[in-house]
Amino acid sequence: MKLGRLLLLLFLIGPFVLEAEATISKNIKNLDREFWATIGHDAALQIGKTFGFLHDPSEKQEFSNGITVMKVRESELHQIGHLMHDKFHRCGGFIGHETLAEALEWANNEGERFHAKSMNFADYSINQGESVRALLTELSAPNIASTIQKLSSFKNRYYKSQTGQDSQKLVKETWETLVQGRTDAKVEFFRHSGWPQPSVVLTLTGSETPEEIIVLGGHGDSISGYFGDRSSNHAPGADDNASGIATLTEIVRVLMTSSYRPKHTIKFMAYAAEEVGLWGSKEIAQQAKRENQNIIGVMQLDMTNYKGSADLDIVLMSDYTNTEQNAFMGRLIDEYVKVPWGQDRCGYACSDHASWHGQGFPASMPFEARMNEMNRRIHTPQDTIELSRGNAQHALHFAKLGVAFAVELDN
Ligand code: BES
Ligand code: ZN
Repeated sequence: MKLGRLLLLLFLIGPFVLEAEATISKNIKNLDREFWATIGHDAALQIGKTFGFLHDPSEKQEFSNGITVMKVRESELHQIGHLMHDKFHRCGGFIGHETLAEALEWANNEGERFHAKSMNFADYSINQGESVRALLTELSAPNIASTIQKLSSFKNRYYKSQTGQDSQKLVKETWETLVQGRTDAKVEFFRHSGWPQPSVVLTLTGSETPEEIIVLGGHGDSISGYFGDRSSNHAPGADDNASGIATLTEIVRVLMTSSYRPKHTIKFMAYAAEEVGLWGSKEIAQQAKRENQNIIGVMQLDMTNYKGSADLDIVLMSDYTNTEQNAFMGRLIDEYVKVPWGQDRCGYACSDHASWHGQGFPASMPFEARMNEMNRRIHTPQDTIELSRGNAQHALHFAKLGVAFAVELDN
């Protein structure tokens, strides 16, 4: 056995071995201890097939988030460790729990986030070079700038104000115009019971596997000021987040003018009420979870047009996001956008990707700058396109990344 493997195996089973030794010294009869493991469905199934550790069916429960809770015996750990490593390339791909209650609790809550961060949800191969490059040449920064101007000319897009409803109506009508004549496309309001501003959802139904869904989204609302009812404050929100919605709009336009027909379903979303606590996206993600929707990738575009970091154009947020999908994003940038990129952390649930992440879905958030070099004028009347020299050259990078993400994940 190679040293690397031996170390990995020790890493995998080390804690159990140490615990097992402690148990031996306490009570030698108790060596083949039983405990509860939380593990991916795929791995649980493979373990059953390979070793026949099926036990009593009542000792195995599957959750819609992809996690299986199953009883495991200490004597089986060695083989499971090998299987996880060889077949799934996962390091410590399961977690041991003393009691069933503990395992269930983990599978429901922490499990959701672990799953959203660590699981592999899709085939991340890049092999659509020709069609992606053709689409990229069609993207236009002036188009993005023009949409930013329209959206930021509302007094605000606050979730409680009339103008916050009017702006979402404009997004819906803009997207409807873009999908005109397509029988596989629809644009709908997603209405929320707790506040007047709706979210907007454009659905392009997949031609082969429509149940697999790719989501590209950003928030449609804006805010300014810090206290009370801000319905009459001036909140242009050009960067936060007219830029994200304008970027999404340009991605839709290019896919439609090129008659792109997705195999999987692709949804574009303009979430309501993000600025007051991610409310719109939370309801949408909760519904997706409740309905057991198969969402294979989520891209969040929130603030794409302010170049705050001199040496970087795209910053991938590493928290509340999926590690594998982020790596895929990095490769897509290298392959198609060809700009310097880096990673940073928000440090808190800073935008709608966190809503998806919290429900167990794979999300990424490519952002305009490092956190400490971000646009300082957001949430003020000064968040205008002038801060970006009146153009959308920076946002164009994100439109390229969005097209590449949608097409490569779809194929
Ligand atoms: N666009 C911001 C999020 C953001 C700001 C991301 C700076 C990265 C850097 C978003 O619209 C926002 O303002 N979020 C709130 C939190 C939310 C839960 C209300 C925030 O950051 O305060
Ligand atoms: Zn904001």
